[in-house]
Amino acid sequence: MDNKAKKIEMKDLVDYCNNYGFIFQGSEIYGGLANTWDYGPLGSRLKNTIKDAWRYFFIQKRDNAYEVDADILMNPRVWEASGHVHIKEHNVPCPNCGKSNFTDIRQFNLMFATQRGVTNDSANTVYLRPENAQGEYVNFLNVLRTTRTKLPFSIGQIGKAFRNEITPGNFTFRTIEFEQMEFQTFCKHGDDEDIYEYFKNYGIEFFNMLGLPKEKLRHHDHEKLAHYAKAACDIEYLFPFGWGEINGTHNRTDFDLSRHAEFSGKKQEYCDQTTGEKFTPYIIESTYGLDRITLAVLFEAYTIEELENGDTRELLKISPALAPIKLNICPIKKKFHSEKAKEILAMCKKHFMTSYDESGSIGKRYRRADAIGTPWQISVDEKTVEENIVTLRDRDTMEQIELKVEELVPYIEERIQFEK
Ligand code: GAP
Repeated sequence: MDNKAKKIEMKDLVDYCNNYGFIFQGSEIYGGLANTWDYGPLGSRLKNTIKDAWRYFFIQKRDNAYEVDADILMNPRVWEASGHVHIKEHNVPCPNCGKSNFTDIRQFNLMFATQRGVTNDSANTVYLRPENAQGEYVNFLNVLRTTRTKLPFSIGQIGKAFRNEITPGNFTFRTIEFEQMEFQTFCKHGDDEDIYEYFKNYGIEFFNMLGLPKEKLRHHDHEKLAHYAKAACDIEYLFPFGWGEINGTHNRTDFDLSRHAEFSGKKQEYCDQTTGEKFTPYIIESTYGLDRITLAVLFEAYTIEELENGDTRELLKISPALAPIKLNICPIKKKFHSEKAKEILAMCKKHFMTSYDESGSIGKRYRRADAIGTPWQISVDEKTVEENIVTLRDRDTMEQIELKVEELVPYIEERIQFEK
């Protein structure tokens, strides 16, 4: 039964995120800074559970998949090799007017430049990375050497990227500072096309696991390709403002490693132990925008539900694995039950995020936790004190069951797995 009382628009979600502490305007007390947002206590927890899901799906459960954490600041030659800085040095003409006089180009540069050292000259310019990918590419040989892995293998990374975006943002959809979860698979030329197709579909599976339904996801193949790509496809989610890209999968060929070999003077090769053949691998990249995925998950889960008695209930119907808080503990009478409730709280906190609420009526306490997506709540009463039995309430069905205190942790742990 579809019991949604209201279609959620962008403004509703922005208000909800601000009211409950998911996302605040960046530098709010100074009037903000365009296209910057700060994640509050629940928003940062949610982002972390999505990162955990990505780590599970892309690193933990796969073979030959390794995570790195490369520095945001890199040797500026990296950006010459990648093609992000090259226009001025090579007099690339403007495709419209044919002129190469780009004196003002820095104004429109996508990359944020900053200075290291005390003097302000161009030799000291370093850049905030506009994508994570290069941090994975420059560590190709290091990962190969230290893991003694074989092709195909993957290097993933979660980290911040920065782009001088000038177009309006649609809340956290387009920001100047954002987080990417990138996954680069190094493979043999000839295997690249199958691996590319595989990751296009793996992305859909990942999004389904996060609770984004098939009918709100679509592939969008690119006709115009970036200078490094042989093929490119986005996965788009249907936001209230229309379809928006949340993932990109690219066949980057051997472009990146060949360019790094050329610019660093160090061969970026793989030696096939069985044939003795040496070659520069191809790279299939699958990149995920964490902020956009968080936004999609919030849109999908945020619900105003109409109850049978005509009341409405605000609810975040998020998968228990992603819920910022897994359990809320409510003593019925503070004076008599809080000691026992705090004992249970201490036990549960060792296993998962647990909250405690002893203020207001039990109904109000339930509603507050429903609104932030807490999948279960327990009430602690006389029966708990005397018989060690709690009443556990389910967020979505509002049904209640009785459990022994010692059954509580296994009950919840079994249900917060990313996959069964
Ligand atoms: N390494 C390849 C790369 O960075 P991209 O398609 O430009 O590819 C990857 O970016 C993902 O990063 C996008 O699918 C999107 O989810 C996210 N992203 C890109 N620009 C963004 C921005 N300004 N704000 C928030 N997320 C962004």
